[in-house]
Amino acid sequence: MNLPNMQEARLRTDALVEVIEAKNIKSDRFKNKKYFIRTYGCQMNVHDSEEIKGILENLGFKETLEVQDADLVVLNTCAIRENAHDKVFGFLGRLKHLKKDKPDLIICVGGCMPQEESVANLLKEKYPFVNIVFGTHNINDLGTLILEESKKQLIEVYSIEGNVYEHMDYVRDSKFTAWVNIMYGCDKFCTYCIVPFTRGKQRSRKMAEIIKEVEKLKEEGYLEVTLLGQNVNAYGKDLDSDYDFATLLENVAKTGIKRVRFVTSHPWDFTDEMINVIAGFENIMPYIHLPLQSGSSKILKLMGRRYTQEEYIALYNKIKSKIKNVSITTDIIVGFPNETDEDFAETLKVVNECKFDGAFTFIYSPREGTPASKIKDTIPLEVKEQRLYKLNELINSYSLEHNKKYIGKTEEVLVLGPSEKGEDKVYGYTKTMKLVNVSNAKDDIGKLILVYITDAKSFSLDGEKVIFAKN
Ligand code: SAH
Ligand code: SF4
Ligand code: F3S
Repeated sequence: MNLPNMQEARLRTDALVEVIEAKNIKSDRFKNKKYFIRTYGCQMNVHDSEEIKGILENLGFKETLEVQDADLVVLNTCAIRENAHDKVFGFLGRLKHLKKDKPDLIICVGGCMPQEESVANLLKEKYPFVNIVFGTHNINDLGTLILEESKKQLIEVYSIEGNVYEHMDYVRDSKFTAWVNIMYGCDKFCTYCIVPFTRGKQRSRKMAEIIKEVEKLKEEGYLEVTLLGQNVNAYGKDLDSDYDFATLLENVAKTGIKRVRFVTSHPWDFTDEMINVIAGFENIMPYIHLPLQSGSSKILKLMGRRYTQEEYIALYNKIKSKIKNVSITTDIIVGFPNETDEDFAETLKVVNECKFDGAFTFIYSPREGTPASKIKDTIPLEVKEQRLYKLNELINSYSLEHNKKYIGKTEEVLVLGPSEKGEDKVYGYTKTMKLVNVSNAKDDIGKLILVYITDAKSFSLDGEKVIFAKN
């Protein structure tokens, strides 16, 4: 057992990065068995689950969407806020019951939660029915751990985070749009955030490997790639090379894949070169997720975000003026320790100035081991909830305002699948990442089509496929 230690994680940042060939172990031992996977958290975890699926299918497992039919269950967990923890422990309670009727059920818990020492210990002491515990740095070992098939609980979580794995067998959720990791980990250490501890230090993939992956995806018929990283614009800073995110973005665009997206970009590393590249290539989508976190410069400083309110707004305006029709969304935390009414008013002021297309908003959740968790928090939960409510009202009003401007316009949409809004509808996204429910396009899943927008809500648009009359 190799448990992570937060202090140690910080000290280990100088460890050498090794590029390791993925194991991709193949076996037919579990040929008639089924797996169920549940993914919590961010896109990183969604993509890690595609890797986990690849490992399981290489061992012979097939996926089931019904947990009671499964022979193996994987929970790929998130640690970002306390409620992410609660969901996982709630589901583990259900699995405990299931295992009473099905003693051979193999239960695996992976992802960000086990990277926290306290969680790994809790799983060991209070959840002995969990067979395998693994972390974010040793997903590649999951196949070996399953094949070991021990009667004892196996906990293998590494705090050494120096490696980058290449050539994994992914089972991707979509045939049209793909996640592509460009880096792992994060070196920013925002004071509230657990990610640098659960994902380790920043490790960028080599540009040539990323380009190869995008070219292969294009050959396989993928129309869109999303470049993934906690901090995509810090890409390359850890490599001994002369390229950066702007160079990478340009080269990915030059592969000619129809749509290129990226998440998440930190305001701190957002260079003019990046803006020029995004503005200069038709196939780089005009959509940017630019987390603000707080509008108060005082709170931003306490958060360790390394920009002020004025700097954020100046960057925002620069992006808006240089990239045509760009849409910008953000993340905002309310109730950071000692956030006063005046600080919160500053957040509302920035929202009123920037008029974001949308935002993910959160109540601050103290994470064990982070610097912010040591600050005494005096704000009552009720006040935090009121702030969140007020903020969401404002955000939603701007989202609706933006969306209404689309009514009567024709937009290019990549259709991804059947819509939840009625059997005759499909859903897809505009270039600017607006969700559209489309009529008359049932046969267009996996295609780029033109859609005439007929209606707008805060979180989606409605539209009809544009059909050109034949001459
Ligand atoms: N790397 C990205 C975001 C990663 S986490 C970035 O830096 O922007 C996604 C979002 O979760 C963050 O943007 C932040 O708004 C929120 N978040 C992170 N830690 C949190 C905490 N302790 N409490 C509440 N929200 C948090
Ligand atoms: Fe967390 Fe900050 Fe890194 Fe984002 S940039 S993952 S918020 S430490
Ligand atoms: Fe959660 Fe880990 Fe992502 S903590 S937000 S799944 S990096």
